Amino acid sequence: MRAARLRGLSLARGPGRGVAGDWRPERGALAIQARGLAVRRGTATVLSDVDLDVRAGELLALVGPNGAGKTTLLAAACGDLPAHAGTITLGGAALSGAKTVELARRRAMLPQHTTLAFPFTVADVVAMGRAPWAGTPRQAEDTEAVADAMRQADVERFAARPFPSLSGGEQARTALARALAQRTPILLLDEPTAALDLHHQELVLGIARDRARAGDAVVAVLHDLGLAAAYADRVALLAGGRVVADGPPERVLTAGTLSGVYQHRVEVIPHPRTGVPLIVPDRPAPPDRA
Ligand SMILES: Nc1ncnc2c1ncn2[C@@H]1O[C@H](COP(=O)(O)OP(=O)(O)O)[C@@H](O)[C@H]1O
Ligand SMILES: [Mg+2]
Repeated sequence: MRAARLRGLSLARGPGRGVAGDWRPERGALAIQARGLAVRRGTATVLSDVDLDVRAGELLALVGPNGAGKTTLLAAACGDLPAHAGTITLGGAALSGAKTVELARRRAMLPQHTTLAFPFTVADVVAMGRAPWAGTPRQAEDTEAVADAMRQADVERFAARPFPSLSGGEQARTALARALAQRTPILLLDEPTAALDLHHQELVLGIARDRARAGDAVVAVLHDLGLAAAYADRVALLAGGRVVADGPPERVLTAGTLSGVYQHRVEVIPHPRTGVPLIVPDRPAPPDRA
């Protein structure tokens, strides 16, 4: 524990890292590493024995049934929940003991739900993503980062609107824009597409993939397994607080594995043109409309 604290402090002040905020793992280097990670919530152990690597330059889809522990795993990667056993590190530095602002320069998080105590405008909400850079040289990017994030998330036209007046999907895209504006090398997205229409789901996964191509480590919790198959470099399947499969989409998203984990028979059919797996739950035959 003591060693972990010391390593955590080195995250803020590490020699040879320059300003801690300039930290950026090389493409292919480990950005997030969990080893034997257990996390408790209340009295329950909701993650056990989790080993997970996320590398700079990859988009990892985190999938699994409700209650599997996906949000808990992101919270642990964020430094919001402590490891009860095992370790979780960002770029080799433990999270315990790290300053909040230093963590916020390493990773941005889109939470599953965003609530605000005050009716800030959309532009204000997105600008909150720049807070970790206040007083650093990168403050000079603020205006451009906010404008770029609003353009990417397609919320520019709502800039002056109070956040609570937006639809659920528009709010979700605004919250995403805030995380994008933070411009961190690690991006954690908890169900970024849950409230979005078809076009904006594709848009958001396209952004996530582009961020990965540009060298960031991106983790997205997804329920739409077809989206995971189409966009992710790798899929980690969580069930009952454990990683039950981890690998390329075609290896993880199989009919046998998914039918067992979701307790629902599914078929996996290669797309006739692209070969990308299409995941189709077993459904009752449609009514005879003849
Ligand atoms: N504060 C808490 N106290 C006890 N159990 C919790 C708490 N928060 C979450 N849990 C439980 O932890 C498990 C994992 O939750 P979560 O990580 O949110 O799952 P997921 O995001 O995969 O749906 C669930 O069974 C949930 O009910
Ligand atoms: Mg969740």
